Amino acid sequence: MGLNCRSGRLYVDGTVGEGGHAAAILDHIGPEGELWGLDRDPEVLQTAATRLAHHTSRFQLFHRSYAQLGELLASTQIPGVAGILLDLGLSSFQLAQSQRGFSFAGDEPLDMRFNSEGSAATAAQLLNRASEAELERIFWEYGEEPRARRIARLVVQSRRRRVFQTTRQLVEVIEQAQGPGGRRGRLHPATRVFQALRIAVNLELEELATFLENVPAWLEPGGRLVVISYHSLEDRLVKHRLAAWERAGVMVRLTRKPLTPTPAEVKANPRARSAKLRIAEKMA
Ligand SMILES: C[S@@+](CC[C@H](N)C(=O)[O-])C[C@H]1O[C@@H](n2cnc3c(N)ncnc32)[C@H](O)[C@@H]1O
Repeated sequence: MGLNCRSGRLYVDGTVGEGGHAAAILDHIGPEGELWGLDRDPEVLQTAATRLAHHTSRFQLFHRSYAQLGELLASTQIPGVAGILLDLGLSSFQLAQSQRGFSFAGDEPLDMRFNSEGSAATAAQLLNRASEAELERIFWEYGEEPRARRIARLVVQSRRRRVFQTTRQLVEVIEQAQGPGGRRGRLHPATRVFQALRIAVNLELEELATFLENVPAWLEPGGRLVVISYHSLEDRLVKHRLAAWERAGVMVRLTRKPLTPTPAEVKANPRARSAKLRIAEKMA
């Protein structure tokens, strides 16, 4: 996956999820290697713990954002790691089973927080409190939703009658905003708005920007960074920041153009269709 895993080194899976990539890293680094797995979602970390339990290699799981990796390194006095992987976005568990409102397929509480034990506002609270202009900005900037203005207006009208609590309520408003022309294109009409709300609720772009700002300090010389992103907002941030680090003589990009999955990989895992993978290395 581009991490150049070597035995006896410390690697970080910053978005360990259900531990699929982590298991592959552990296979490559052998019993002398060490892996830290971070995730903001405590429920997902439980799944990773169970999945990785049989691995003999050393690994530790942390309930942290990848943007806080510096705090972990400081507390252990480890100067830098040999590789960091970020596989951004949602895990399949969160989408299909968490019942936290990430999916528009059923009817779930509109939560959307990765860290459901935290004190941050839920998607429902955001929808019920934000101004119409703020909602429009969120739908437009984070979802690139062409009907952002109309949907924001309908959200504000709808919440005066009944506050938002469930995903079904939001899907109904989005469908109403579509008008008689109905559905266009392949995407479900709620896709963009759900993505936008999730990004806003979890401050996803801010977390990624903080991480990218600090990552060279967390890597040892020659250490690798691999980032897999699933939408253009994330990929743009990664692309620009890595190019800036290269201009500054701090990191070198090993992929000028992002790597994308082969048709066979997309067939095996349709959610990977929009994945873009970028690799960079800290200069020695
Ligand atoms: C696509 S999944 C990762 C799947 C994982 N690679 C696997 O093989 O199972 C993305 C994960 O990133 C987590 N996540 C999102 N933002 C995060 C952040 N700022 N810090 C740590 N984890 C985060 C989510 O909770 C989710 O579990």
